[in-house]
Amino acid sequence: MDTLKRTKVKDLLCSTPGAEVLAKGWVRTKRGNKQVKFIALNDGSTVKNIQVVAPCDVIDEETLKLVTTGASLQVIGTLTESIGSGQAVEIQAKEIVVLGECDPMRFPLQKKDTSLEYLRTVAHMRLRTNTFGAVLRIRHAMAFAIHKFFNDKGFVYLHTPLITESDAEGAGDMFQVTTLDLANVPVHNGKVDFSKDFFGKKTSLTVSGQLEGELGATAVGEIYTFGPTFRAENSNTPRHLAEFWMIEPEMAFYDINDNMALAEEFVKYLVQYALDNCMDDLQFLNDKYDDGLIERLRSVLGIAFQKVTYTQAVEILEEAIKNGQQFEYPVHWGTDFQSEHERYLVEKHFGKPVILIDFPKDIKAFYMKQNEDGRTVRGMDVLFPKIGEIIGGSEREASLEKLEKRIEELGMSRKNLEWYVDTRRYGTVPHSGFGLGFERLLLFVTGMTNIRDVIPFPRTPKNAEF
Ligand code: 4AD
Ligand code: MG
Repeated sequence: MDTLKRTKVKDLLCSTPGAEVLAKGWVRTKRGNKQVKFIALNDGSTVKNIQVVAPCDVIDEETLKLVTTGASLQVIGTLTESIGSGQAVEIQAKEIVVLGECDPMRFPLQKKDTSLEYLRTVAHMRLRTNTFGAVLRIRHAMAFAIHKFFNDKGFVYLHTPLITESDAEGAGDMFQVTTLDLANVPVHNGKVDFSKDFFGKKTSLTVSGQLEGELGATAVGEIYTFGPTFRAENSNTPRHLAEFWMIEPEMAFYDINDNMALAEEFVKYLVQYALDNCMDDLQFLNDKYDDGLIERLRSVLGIAFQKVTYTQAVEILEEAIKNGQQFEYPVHWGTDFQSEHERYLVEKHFGKPVILIDFPKDIKAFYMKQNEDGRTVRGMDVLFPKIGEIIGGSEREASLEKLEKRIEELGMSRKNLEWYVDTRRYGTVPHSGFGLGFERLLLFVTGMTNIRDVIPFPRTPKNAEF
C-alpha cells in the first residue's frame, strides 16, 4: 500500500478502470443513504469531480461523519466503471482518511449563496470554488500561451522596473514609493526634500514598462514585458484595477500596420489556445454564467478586425445619436471615448472587434507618432465585445525634433526623460508597440463581467485585503 502514488483527479477521470488508486482532495458534496455515501471529490486539477463511493460497512461511521463539504480527504480504492450518469469512472473506497476537518456551521462556502458578489466578500476562500478554479486555470494557460507566442517569434522577455521615476503615460495617477517618515517629512524651501528619500528622488510604482521597453527594442529588436502595473486612478468600474498585469511588446522597424497585424494575430492566438486547451473550464463557465461564451470566442477567430479612424468613429456615433441612440456621455471630436461608445461600435455598428486609429493628439500620450495633419497621432486601440478597450498602443515618434517639441508643448519635465530621448538621438528607428491588459483579456476569455473576478486578489479603491 505505501508504494501507491497519488493520482490527480484530472488523470483519474481518463484512466482505465481496474487499478488500485490513491486520490486526495476536498469534498464538494456528500449524499447517499444508510448503506452507501457518494462523495464528490475535487483537487483543483480539473473542474470535474471524481465520485467516491463509500459503503457504510467498509468505511466507519465516525469517519463518514467528518466527510463534510470543504473537508480534505485521502482516499484509497479501486477505480471502477461508473454506472451512474455523468462520469465514466468512480472510486470504490476501501479506506478514507480525513486530512482536515471542516466545520459545516462555519465554512463560508457552505452557504446556498454562491453569487459572485457574495464570493467577493469571502475572497480568501473563493479560490476553492469551481468558478475560481476554472478562472485560475485559464489565467495560467493564457500566461503560458503569451510566453509561448512571443518565444516562438524570437521576442526577448524584458524585465522592466516596477519602481520608477517616470510617469510613462503622463496621466499622473501613480502610487508613490517612499521610506520617508510621513509624520515627520523632511522639508527644504517649503517642499518635501526627496533627496532624503530612499532613492534620493521622488519615485512611484510603474504605470507601464513601455519606455524602458523601447530601450530594449532599440537594442535587441523585439521585446515584450509581462508584469504588474499600478494605477491610482479612482475608477470604481467593472473594468479597472489599481494593480493589473500588462503585456507590452515593443518592436524596432515596425510601423503602425505591422503593429496592428501583430496585435490581431496575438489575441486570436490566445483565444485559439484557450479553445484548444481549456475546453472543460470554458464549458463550465459557458453553462453556468454566459451561454454565449464559447460562440463569442469562436466568432473573433474567423474574421478580420475592423479598422476605423477616430474621426470616422465620431461620425458613426454622431449619426447613431441622430437616429435615437442614447449615451450617458457626449461625443464630439476631441473627447476620449467611453466604454459605452466603444461597445456601440463593436457590438451594434460593426459586429466584430474594432481597431481604432489616428486619435486626436491631445487625448494621447506624448510618445505617439504625429500624423502629417498636425492634429492626430498614430495610436491604435483594440476594442472587444462586452469590454471595450483591451489593447492600447501606437507607432512611436521616431524623430528627435518632433519628440522634443511635444515634450516641451506638454510642459513635461525634460530632466527625467533624457534617457528616453537618447533612443531618438542615437540611431533612432521607426518602432511600435502596444499594451494588452491581461485582466481585460481574461474578461473576454472567461466571460466574467467584473474584473475583480478574474484576478485572485483584486486591488481597487479602498480594497487591498490579504
Ligand atoms: O492604454 P494604456 O494606458 O496603454 C499603455 O499603458 C501603453 N504604455 C501601452 C503600450 O503601448 N506599450 O493601457 C494598456 C491596456 C489597456 O488597453 C487596458 O487593457 C489595460 O492596459 N488597462 C487596465 N486594465 C485594468 N485596470 C486598469 N486600471 C487599466 N488601465 C489600462
Ligand atoms: Mg488606453
